[in-house]
Amino acid sequence: MTLWLGDGDMDKFVIQKSSLKGEIKISGSKNASLPIMAATLLTDEECRISGVPNLADIRTMIKILEVLGKNIEFDNNVLIIRQKDKKSYVTPYRLVRTMRASFCVLGPLLARRKKAKVSLPGGCVIGVRPVDLHIKGLRELGAKIAIQKGYCIGEAKSLRGKHIFLGGPFGSSVLATANVLMAAVLARGETNIEYAACEPEIVNLALFLKKMGARIKGEGTPLITVEGVDSLGGADFKVIADRIEAGTFIAMALATGSNLTISGANPFHLTSVIETARKMGADIICKNSRINVKPKRVLSPVNITTLPYPGFPTDLQAQFMACLCLADGISMITEKIYPDRFMHVAELNRMGAHIQRSGPYAIIEGKKKLFGAEVMASDLRASAALVAAGLVAEGKTQILRIYHIDRGYEKLEDKLKGLGAKIKREKQ
Ligand code: EPZ
Repeated sequence: MTLWLGDGDMDKFVIQKSSLKGEIKISGSKNASLPIMAATLLTDEECRISGVPNLADIRTMIKILEVLGKNIEFDNNVLIIRQKDKKSYVTPYRLVRTMRASFCVLGPLLARRKKAKVSLPGGCVIGVRPVDLHIKGLRELGAKIAIQKGYCIGEAKSLRGKHIFLGGPFGSSVLATANVLMAAVLARGETNIEYAACEPEIVNLALFLKKMGARIKGEGTPLITVEGVDSLGGADFKVIADRIEAGTFIAMALATGSNLTISGANPFHLTSVIETARKMGADIICKNSRINVKPKRVLSPVNITTLPYPGFPTDLQAQFMACLCLADGISMITEKIYPDRFMHVAELNRMGAHIQRSGPYAIIEGKKKLFGAEVMASDLRASAALVAAGLVAEGKTQILRIYHIDRGYEKLEDKLKGLGAKIKREKQ
């Protein structure tokens, strides 16, 4: 996530202390949509994908697929993706550097076009994010991959199924699993992906691939088995709701002490998050796809450790840290996925929080109040944490560089205004 936008795109949020009330409808999942969009490279037939959030990252993936020969319509959260030309296989740095997830076109390109030239993703403020597992898995399927001048150059005359161990130093990898899965569906024979990511986004991708005609078993478990097929067709598919957006609104309800109903999300995708919110003292009732959150007046401190799914998601660590700044006591957060993912700590401390960080640990001493200040967004989830803190802080909070938020939250300020929040977007 390189900071590269021009001034024009530099909006800020101005937030006043607010309590929230009512019901919020969750959008479709960014992290499910992105690999599913890449999977359309596996067919020449038309794909119709609905429930896709209108976000900067989705628009970046649209640009990438257009460069790779797709013709795309996007309206009312529905993508219609058709084949225009299937010769291109180069994904330029100017697009990949803005969004790491673009790297997951590598597997489908190798499987379908037998060659690929995909820029390596650049640095990332949330920490070191190598792609060694992606490359290892694709090489094991038989692809020849070389790294030259910042590009991953691959060739795959024919991919062959294999037993692949995909575990890394921090456990499973979501997008490496996606990349290898999307290559294996067109490989000859059987592939077993061991230590596969179990995230709901991977299950959603597997369901989409199966709709296209793929043969997959075990998605959602650490062992996925794929029986390769010769070709795949088009599909009509709806993506899942965004569990991280839903978790973000749970955090905002906790931070502001507001009684909120979150609708459209799957509570079963949020069990560790709901469990943690209950430990913080909230009453949470889940009925079908509605989650009602009733926090108690003063939150209880808890210890949180981020883990691969179904553990507590790293993408909600910052938002829950903002809540724990107001808890009645000391909490500890252990970041096991991205040990350096603490850019929000200094900004929250600028708002009067008391957080000490050492390596992958953060100790949060709960305070009675936070105070509005000018703070800087550094990445998508850290920005959401600053919004949560701004909603509960005394006085005015100004959050700069909110383009990070636009990457992953659809119409956040409109949704918050609908719940009674005092928030506005202004030019910086
Ligand atoms: C996905 O990223 C999400 N992005 C991230 O959400 C999320 O933080 C992450 O999974 C973990 O849950 C999308 O789905 C688009 P990983 P991904 O590979 O797949 C290490 C957001 O806010 N690793 O599961 O890139 C890696 O460094 C974003 O929406 C290797 O060592 O993450 C990390 O420590 C931010 N080698 C761990 O594995 C590899 O080849 C998990 O990363 C790949 C990863």
